[in-house]
Amino acid sequence: MSNKLDTLKTKIEQAKLGGGTARIEDQHKKKKLTARERIDLLMDGGSFEELGMLVQHRSRNFGLDKQEFLGDGVVTGYGKINGRLVYVYSQDFTVLGGSLSEAHAEKICRIMDLAMQNGAPIIGLNDSGGARIQEGVVSLGGYADIFYRNTLASGVIPQISAIMGPCAGGAVYSPAITDFIMMVEETSYMFVTGPNVVKTVTHEDVTSEELGGAEAHASKSGVTHFACANEIECIQYLKQLLSYIPQNCEEMSPRLPYHPVNEIRPRLNSMIPENPNQPYDMKEVIEEIIDKDSFFEVHKDYAENMIVGFARLGGKSIGIVANQPSVLAGVLDIKCSNKAARFVRFCDSFNIPLLVLEDVPGFLPGTDQEWNGIISNGAKLLYAFCEATVPRITVITRKAYGGAYDVMNSKHIGADMNYAWPTAEIAVMGAKGAAEIIFKSEISKADDKEAKLKEKETEYADMFANPYEAAARGYVDEVIVPEVTREKLIKAFGMLENKVAKLPRKKHGNIPL
Ligand code: HXC
Repeated sequence: MSNKLDTLKTKIEQAKLGGGTARIEDQHKKKKLTARERIDLLMDGGSFEELGMLVQHRSRNFGLDKQEFLGDGVVTGYGKINGRLVYVYSQDFTVLGGSLSEAHAEKICRIMDLAMQNGAPIIGLNDSGGARIQEGVVSLGGYADIFYRNTLASGVIPQISAIMGPCAGGAVYSPAITDFIMMVEETSYMFVTGPNVVKTVTHEDVTSEELGGAEAHASKSGVTHFACANEIECIQYLKQLLSYIPQNCEEMSPRLPYHPVNEIRPRLNSMIPENPNQPYDMKEVIEEIIDKDSFFEVHKDYAENMIVGFARLGGKSIGIVANQPSVLAGVLDIKCSNKAARFVRFCDSFNIPLLVLEDVPGFLPGTDQEWNGIISNGAKLLYAFCEATVPRITVITRKAYGGAYDVMNSKHIGADMNYAWPTAEIAVMGAKGAAEIIFKSEISKADDKEAKLKEKETEYADMFANPYEAAARGYVDEVIVPEVTREKLIKAFGMLENKVAKLPRKKHGNIPL
């Protein structure tokens, strides 16, 4: 018996060493943790249960028969994060560069299947050289098995990808299908084709970091939702994100205790500048409304004219979508429509109520926007709001102009409650532009054209640059003093807590992708 126990102990020790101490040192020299160190940081102490520790690859090609590593380059299992069940896989770069073999893929698929069957989030810690080159098509098949499961799991359980090393070629498509991507600055990158191929094809000179590093994907492509300074921060973000979201699509997010106090926020009364064209920071409005320090921004550095993120209101998790008047005047463009649409769909999939803070002058004009498809991209946001069945509340703080008024969670497209501040301007367009069009001939005939334009602008503004026309028609439920916003929202979200809304029976809709 003791021999047999020793054999087992030796195997476990061997498996825990992955590719061996020298490669672990190499990993540390690159400022990267090992697969197991990452899991230790992520999971509650002692909660991780490893599955498939002794799995080995089956390839005999190109000398692989002499390179056998227990676990085959990925640590998989389940455990708890802040007391809640999660499934995790963590690729081990010390074993053949974390490359994905048939057996490696099978291990990932197994825990994805378990996560689906048991309704808990799946977290992938990615650090891999891609398909195990020696295995050929078998490895490609392994990737496809994962992509297929990512797609079936979408909207059923939350899926989060942390990129902590290379993630290149077709391998990028698993994280791309998951709900959130986090990347570590300087040590991770994602691209479909690397700098060498780019140089050959387009003659561009770029480094891996420039092409597909965390900063590029956080601010330019929007592929990653979070850029993290290092792996520790990445794991902190992961845990924080999980705290706002439920285990699966049948459950609600965890709730924190809430003890009602005086919810009046007088500072909100002076947030909007006197001059309607002067910017202000919507993040300050958000901070005044939500529970203290609870805002967790998503896609912080991408399409900053729109703010999206999670927060708590009276202890409950909500998703916030807000125009940002201090960036591009909060205008809707292609990037921000995509950003917000994806966020709205995540929240709707996972029963997270939506709060929209609206101050939008319309859609961004220009050939760049039109030729790149602001029509179909703007439609994504419209579609996402229209089909969302979670409780949805809008607060119009200032401008709600044109089609953007409809798109930004208006009553007409299914919002449950719409509030407006007295500073709201709900109109087809800004007063000056409107006056120039509808009084064109009158202005052109006037001796003092400028004075006439000003007079007509004032006339239009008096009629429409306010919330009362919309309130008279019930498009706005209530015009509120800004200081009561938080109180109103806590009550209204409470009132909507048991909302039941169903979409017409269908296979699935056809969002304009
Ligand atoms: C097998 C691999 C491997 C791979 C790395 N290794 N990638 N083994 N298959 N894909 C091995 C290396 O041979 C090396 O083994 C060890 O891992 C560490 O790699 P290094 O190159 O020493 O590390 P580093 O200098 O940090 O460079 C990392 C790297 C590089 C940039 C990822 O290894 C690399 O370019 N790898 C190939 C990437 C690639 O082309 N993958 C296939 C993409 S196609 P030894 O024993 O020598 O130390 C793809 C298709 C997916 O993934 C399609 C899905 C649809």
